Amino acid sequence: MESPSHGGVFNKPTDKLVVKFTESVSFDRHLLAHDIDGSIAHAEMLHSIGVLTQEESEQIASELLKIRQEIEEETLKLSIDLEDIHMNVEQALIDRLGDLGRKLHTGRSRNDQVSTDMRMWVRNAIDHIDKCLYDVQRAFLSRCTKDADFIIPAYTHMQRAQPVLAAHYWLAFIEKFHRDRRRLASCRKRVNICSLGSAAVAGTSIPIDREMVAAKLGFESVARNSVDVSSDRDFVLETAFALTMIAEHLSAWAEEWIIWSTAEFNFLKLPEEFCTGSSIMPQKINPDVLELIRGKSARVIGNLQTLLVLMKGLPLAYNRDMQEDKPALFDSVRTVKDCLSLAALMIEQTELRREQIQKRLDTGYLDATSLMEFLIRRGTPQRQAHHAVGSLVRRAMDQQVRLEDLTLEEFKSVDASLDYTVYNVLGVKNAVEAFVSYGSTAPAEVQRQVKFWKERLSSSQS
Ligand code: ARG
Repeated sequence: MESPSHGGVFNKPTDKLVVKFTESVSFDRHLLAHDIDGSIAHAEMLHSIGVLTQEESEQIASELLKIRQEIEEETLKLSIDLEDIHMNVEQALIDRLGDLGRKLHTGRSRNDQVSTDMRMWVRNAIDHIDKCLYDVQRAFLSRCTKDADFIIPAYTHMQRAQPVLAAHYWLAFIEKFHRDRRRLASCRKRVNICSLGSAAVAGTSIPIDREMVAAKLGFESVARNSVDVSSDRDFVLETAFALTMIAEHLSAWAEEWIIWSTAEFNFLKLPEEFCTGSSIMPQKINPDVLELIRGKSARVIGNLQTLLVLMKGLPLAYNRDMQEDKPALFDSVRTVKDCLSLAALMIEQTELRREQIQKRLDTGYLDATSLMEFLIRRGTPQRQAHHAVGSLVRRAMDQQVRLEDLTLEEFKSVDASLDYTVYNVLGVKNAVEAFVSYGSTAPAEVQRQVKFWKERLSSSQS
């Protein structure tokens, strides 16, 4: 079968190797539903400008819907001889409607068709990923209620730093995924612009109604410049970047939970359904899902790299290189979607090993900063207070005791004016309660933020 684009100018058929090398139907078949929608909208527009009669446009639409169903059910086989999904659909239409089918491509080119289909596909993908991100946010939010007043150590440089409410920690992830959702929402605006009607590169002398097609396909506007939009894959790259940020966030989260689930940390009990065993060591319960969420970020990052290199240095406007945008983006969307779905389930079902965490909250001098700020509040300059508390920590370390185990005399040795009230800021609970600043782990502040997110996430708005 010769492709409809292999027109009268050719004397020879395409070489078989070339057919195989250049086909894209093996991956752009995912655009099928959007290609059908785009063609129906185009046919209706062709009717509105008098190129097709109403009956012809309806005939085309109903035949296209049948073709879609047959391809989905695989009763109509796709052929690489027809290069891509667009040609396969068009050829099927011509086979059934003859000359009427041959009219559909009036005033459009595959260049704008591919881009429009892709924009619709990406728009859908963004909506789907947004829903997955929402589910992950909700999973963390449910943890905020479950772990409400529980205190955990927060780390900097992977060293024990300050005590925080577990809910404060979970809220941090809600914020990260919130930014991911906002990034996608912003990117969606640039995706949701109709390229159909730019034709091959210069537009068309057929008096098409681009606004009408855009409205029918749910686009917010029509691309202004036909040359620009024919060359534009910014929306693919931007989406790939937004997906990469999600993968980065997931990977960092997974890494932390892998560490937290080790015997050394023993902070978490992962749900067994999300772990796997070892073929040789009978005792092993491995966090493979988390490891793969971390590992799969590599391909998402790689896909972004592929796309950046792909588009670098392409002269205006359409170049066949651009066909390669699909496998990379499709893979990133699929990968991130899977990772997010698994993450949501694991976040909900993992348990904090409270006893283990609590037992060790007394080690690591998590309350040292709180003591320093106590001194500052009493008028000691920060640098001096820092030094004084440092020497108290050293003293406690040498004796292998907690700060609150030091005697009042020892406290007085760094600041003679200290009295028993110093003990009110020691220990992780007192330390947490001493926080007051906006965005801090102060219990009232955390409560306020949990309330904020509960309201905000009661609907799926981002
Ligand atoms: N299969 C191609 C793609 O996905 C369509 C090619 C359109 N234009 C062309 N002149 N070959 O990008």
